[in-house]
Amino acid sequence: MKKNLFIAFEGIDGSGKSTQVKLLSEKLAQAGHQVFTTVEPTNSHIGSIIRNIFNHKIEADHRTIAGLFVADRLDHLLNKTDGILKQLEEGYTVITDRYYLSSYAYHGAHMSLDWVIEANAQSAELLRPDLNIFIDISPEISMTRLTRGRGSLELFENLENLIKVRDKYFEAMEKVKSVENIFITDGNRSPELIAADIWNEVSKIASFIP
Ligand code: ADP
Ligand code: TYD
Repeated sequence: MKKNLFIAFEGIDGSGKSTQVKLLSEKLAQAGHQVFTTVEPTNSHIGSIIRNIFNHKIEADHRTIAGLFVADRLDHLLNKTDGILKQLEEGYTVITDRYYLSSYAYHGAHMSLDWVIEANAQSAELLRPDLNIFIDISPEISMTRLTRGRGSLELFENLENLIKVRDKYFEAMEKVKSVENIFITDGNRSPELIAADIWNEVSKIASFIP
């Protein structure tokens, strides 16, 4: 069993990823792991360009956005100060809120999925998650949560797009299932039930340090 893990959370906007990242990181920390949590888009310069596009401050084509995410992800992995590879080398268990399956789904909804997979091949070769956790919620529930939580919505946050993205997630997960370890959990339930399901799955691959 590996001592430290790399786990990616996936799902459409508002699926409960950040809620579950927090709950899982607390449990892993209690089990003796040193945990580093992170997110894409990152807080780097490239990530901030992406966020400005999502906030409607900058305009960009879908293909440009897909390319920015390729660059943001490589920096997320390779950055010498706090990159994921460095954190793993130092013994941290790394949990990321989104990784390349997000690109497959969000950009594959607007352009060739094969192109997006190919464009992210460097990241996949550098580091595949020990476990991808896909939290599945209905796009309608997602929209209710998003509109309740905030005043304004971001670029991809509309019902029509979230339906497309959820479908594309399933298409992409089917396509890469021979090379990816993917766990799908029903996110239309209470956070506690979802967390218990996730913990059960993570327990199969985690070692527990006394
Ligand atoms: P994401 O990171 O995927 O966007 P969040 O964890 O931020 O999702 O959750 C989006 C909203 O839904 C938040 O207001 C959060 O409190 C709420 N939420 C999260 N998980 C659940 C759940 N299982 N049931 C109901 N509401 C939830
Ligand atoms: P964020 O506000 O962090 O999303 P969430 O609602 O999941 O907390 O913004 C992330 C947005 O970026 C989300 O709409 C999905 C999108 N995205 C892509 O389009 N491509 C990608 O590769 C990634 C990682 C995210």
